Amino acid sequence: MDLYHPSEEFVARANVPRGDAHRQLMERAESDPEGFWGDLAESELHWFRKWDRVLDDAEAPFYRWFTGGRTNMSYNCLDRHCQTWRKNRAAIVWEGEPGEQRVLTYQELLRSVQRFASVLKSRGYGAGDRAILYMPMVPELPVAMLACARLGITHSVVFAGFSAEALKTRILDLEAGVVITADGGWRRGKVVPLKPAVDEALEECPSVRNVIVYRRVGNEVEMKAGRDAWWHDVDAGASEECPAAELDAEHPLYVLYTSGTTGKPKGIVHTTGGYQLQVSMAMRWVFDIKDEDTYWCAADVGWVTGHSYIVYGPLLVGTTTVMYEGAPDFPEPDRFWRIADKYKVNVFYTSPTAIRAFIKFGEDYPGRHDLSSLRLLGSVGEPINPSAWEWYHRVIGGGRCPIVDTWWQTETGSIMVSPLPGSTPLKPGSGTFALPGIDADVVDMEGNSVPPGGEGYLVVRKPWPSMFRTLWGDPGRFIQTYWSQIPGIYFVGDAARRDEDGYLWVLGRVDDVMNVSGHRLSTAELESTLVRHDSVAEAAVVGMPDELTGQAVIAFVTPIQGYDPTDELAAELREWVAQQIGKFARPKQIRFSDALPKTRSGKIMRRLLREIVTTQTVSGDITTLEDLSVINRLGAQQDEE
Ligand code: WTA
Repeated sequence: MDLYHPSEEFVARANVPRGDAHRQLMERAESDPEGFWGDLAESELHWFRKWDRVLDDAEAPFYRWFTGGRTNMSYNCLDRHCQTWRKNRAAIVWEGEPGEQRVLTYQELLRSVQRFASVLKSRGYGAGDRAILYMPMVPELPVAMLACARLGITHSVVFAGFSAEALKTRILDLEAGVVITADGGWRRGKVVPLKPAVDEALEECPSVRNVIVYRRVGNEVEMKAGRDAWWHDVDAGASEECPAAELDAEHPLYVLYTSGTTGKPKGIVHTTGGYQLQVSMAMRWVFDIKDEDTYWCAADVGWVTGHSYIVYGPLLVGTTTVMYEGAPDFPEPDRFWRIADKYKVNVFYTSPTAIRAFIKFGEDYPGRHDLSSLRLLGSVGEPINPSAWEWYHRVIGGGRCPIVDTWWQTETGSIMVSPLPGSTPLKPGSGTFALPGIDADVVDMEGNSVPPGGEGYLVVRKPWPSMFRTLWGDPGRFIQTYWSQIPGIYFVGDAARRDEDGYLWVLGRVDDVMNVSGHRLSTAELESTLVRHDSVAEAAVVGMPDELTGQAVIAFVTPIQGYDPTDELAAELREWVAQQIGKFARPKQIRFSDALPKTRSGKIMRRLLREIVTTQTVSGDITTLEDLSVINRLGAQQDEE
């Protein structure tokens, strides 16, 4: 396989150039991890009080980093830069889908954040409280996040594509006091209302005392007296001074929910000090950020990628982060390239699903724009197929931009496996190697490293600074899901291969979690949603390989007696899932069946269903199957041998 090497020009200016610099970084990280992270924490971040210990493993796996240290995310993202030449640098360059533009300098952003923090503070919120943020992609979303961080209010951003039901579950789980939302947002030229979902969710959420509503689109919304207030009203009289609280390094910064193997989403808890450090380092090592860069991560702030690499990472290192509100194909499929050209973006980060969609649109669209400002490209969210990688490299990167294929998770908080663009020779489709200080490995079920060329489970052997600390309200599940499969080692939930050269290839999930367009969906959550519908007796959900979205949701459904398996019912069920979880979770297909393949102990054999949707045949061991005829009735051939 051909290796892709960075150009001499790229290497010459790289933050970590190949050769000694890279080697020394790796060696120091390996020989003295605590000294390594401690020195970086000192040089990268502001601390109101220095830590007593870099890593505290007394209660492993509940690791603590920088214990005794006091710091503040909002201070490190804003105040610190406002004491330097950066104060008038663009912090956020925002473009709305209809085409409006806003540029917030670091000073302006700090002012907005202090005003909004004053609003929250004057309503009695502070360290220990929780806020839910349910907003479109407007600058007020980072403003609200940073205002929470400033006071120590733990925020939880709920992706605006989630339903009222999903929103309610999260508010209840967190017992949040305040909800920050908007009237709606723009998507493909249409208003997507948000406030009605909040109203519906809040019918059963007694903890919420205040709702603050940002006016984005101007549609009509109901405001509940005593509870709801407009952002512009409360902002008008707010104080512009609201100092950053001196918080413990382990203060919970945010909770972000992600799908697991049960029906209940997991509240991933991230804290402050270690998270700040590792996302900062990723900006420098992986995105190779320079003072003059304009950086664009085209994700949504509602997912972890947006938290770490639209908001916190870029602001921590004082770069300019581009934020775009809407759809990539609106009004035409060249919107991304129009934005990249217009703002002269240098570093661009997106997902394989988006890249595959662009391939479908055709080369004509990027061809309309001057993309010569780009110098580095990134990919995240799912394995990238080599042909999509090569297209991205050639058509978007003009053959000159290294691609950083970054592997990480909501749980890891920050990038864990990725090339260093000025050093690592690239193989399309491989995330290459673990970053400095990260001890990733591919192992068998006993925890032994697999030999070169082998496949196994991806794990992380040693704790890392931006690791999640627990699951909100469920430390038992934290231990059981992640630290018990192979005792003492972090179990990622992905399969991986390590090739002869030591390169890592992430192959996909090993649990019942699907990855659709880079979004994690739980089969159990989808199934329990389906069986809540009046017509459904039983449901089994599997992922089918999909050219565009990586995987697509296929649901096998057994209707209750008296319900006919019609197209109308299928449409209704698809809509039901969209309404209960969110549109992005809508199954691609509903397949009705009068029975599902089960083991004698009554467990649905999803492996067989997966085979049926991928190969239309069933091979391998089916001796545990209770009723063989089910297979034929599901339309699959049985393999002879
Ligand atoms: C998958 C997104 C292959 C993986 C940051 C992981 C990837 C899950 C990659 C986490 C990649 C993410 N190559 N697979 N570069 N990046 N994944 O929590 O299965 O939304 O476990 O975090 O996405 O998804 P999450």
